Amino acid sequence: MRKLIEPHGGRLINQVLKGKEREEALERVKKLKRVYPGLDVLMDAEKIAIGAFSPLTGFMNHQDLKEVLTTMHLSNGIVWSLPIVFQVDDDTVNPIKEGEEIGLWQDDDNPVAILKVEEKFRLDKEDVVQHAFGTTDDKHPGVKKILEGGNWALAGTVYLLNFVNHPWRKFEYTPEQTRKEFEKRGWKTVVAFQTRNAPHRAHEYLQRIALEIADGLFIQPILGSKKPGDYDNETILNAYHALIDNYFPRERVFLGGLSTPMRYAGPKEAVFHAIVRKNYGASHFMVGRDHAGVGDYYSPFAAQEIFEEFEPGEIGVEIIKFSNVFYCKACGGMASDKSCGHNEENRIKISMTKVRKMLKEGQSPPPEMVRPEVGEVLKEFFARGE
Ligand code: ADX
Repeated sequence: MRKLIEPHGGRLINQVLKGKEREEALERVKKLKRVYPGLDVLMDAEKIAIGAFSPLTGFMNHQDLKEVLTTMHLSNGIVWSLPIVFQVDDDTVNPIKEGEEIGLWQDDDNPVAILKVEEKFRLDKEDVVQHAFGTTDDKHPGVKKILEGGNWALAGTVYLLNFVNHPWRKFEYTPEQTRKEFEKRGWKTVVAFQTRNAPHRAHEYLQRIALEIADGLFIQPILGSKKPGDYDNETILNAYHALIDNYFPRERVFLGGLSTPMRYAGPKEAVFHAIVRKNYGASHFMVGRDHAGVGDYYSPFAAQEIFEEFEPGEIGVEIIKFSNVFYCKACGGMASDKSCGHNEENRIKISMTKVRKMLKEGQSPPPEMVRPEVGEVLKEFFARGE
């Protein structure tokens, strides 16, 4: 019998402390040095511990970081494309010794993790962003965050004590839970769909094709921090409920969030997104136009081309690549550069930037761009003065 895809590296990492071990750690953490790293880092600590970032067991050390930046592989040879580092400033790093355990706290009521600091090293931030994002321009939101962060990195194994508190927790699942759910539903092939957006018709078109080719569709919106101007999590989730409830066969679609920040690293983030979804049990991953892009930093299909750089089987997930999707008046439906023979004049281009502009100006986006039920959710977002 065919099984779900194996996690990246062959084993689902699980460093969520339980029972007596957790009780002891909860006592111990009170006596350790405290760091309050903020939600981005805490969410990633949680993702490491639950296996979403398998095979990572902690924040990257200097050697792994160098290899990842220059070769897109960890030092053990496994593909990994983006830095997962815990960036800290001079004041934080100074008192911490290598070999020491520290507590990572969300606030004084929530110790999230213990980090066993195996190495502390100086970050060459310009080098990191140049390799990861292909630019050092601080107008790029992902670059800006790293350049504004501390000059040091703390590397080491992470042990989870408590999940991060956030309002969308009930929409988030661990890889162990999604794998169980997919198995329960009898799915062997699962297409994962990454998004930071509410769904427009081009997204929906991609999702319908996913439903044609696999047993199930796993829509996993990013619930971590995003750049100003992106929709908030509530809007994204409500919009997806509107789409799924009104248009999709519910039992063939699974919606669950991923609380990790958007990096906007285009191609390298597409590889990262594919690997993470593999850990959640997805055999296939969709990459369309300008995946995880921002502004004009990446060419529209760079996030597809990057997958050619790996040996067959190295990533393990099948990448479903899409050209530009639009509504064609002459075809009378959604189509793409690959399937439509008409000229530009017939095509209604679909992008969330365009939809937002219309909504901001008080216009309703046409149903060729956004389903009316989704449009209603988006109107509420703008009515709140966002
Ligand atoms: S992303 O930052 O998460 O990539 P978004 O949520 O808009 O942004 O996109 C989700 C997925 O849909 C990505 O794979 C993206 O490439 C794809 N996509 C979005 N719009 C289009 C479109 N008009 N044509 C083809 N693919 C698209």
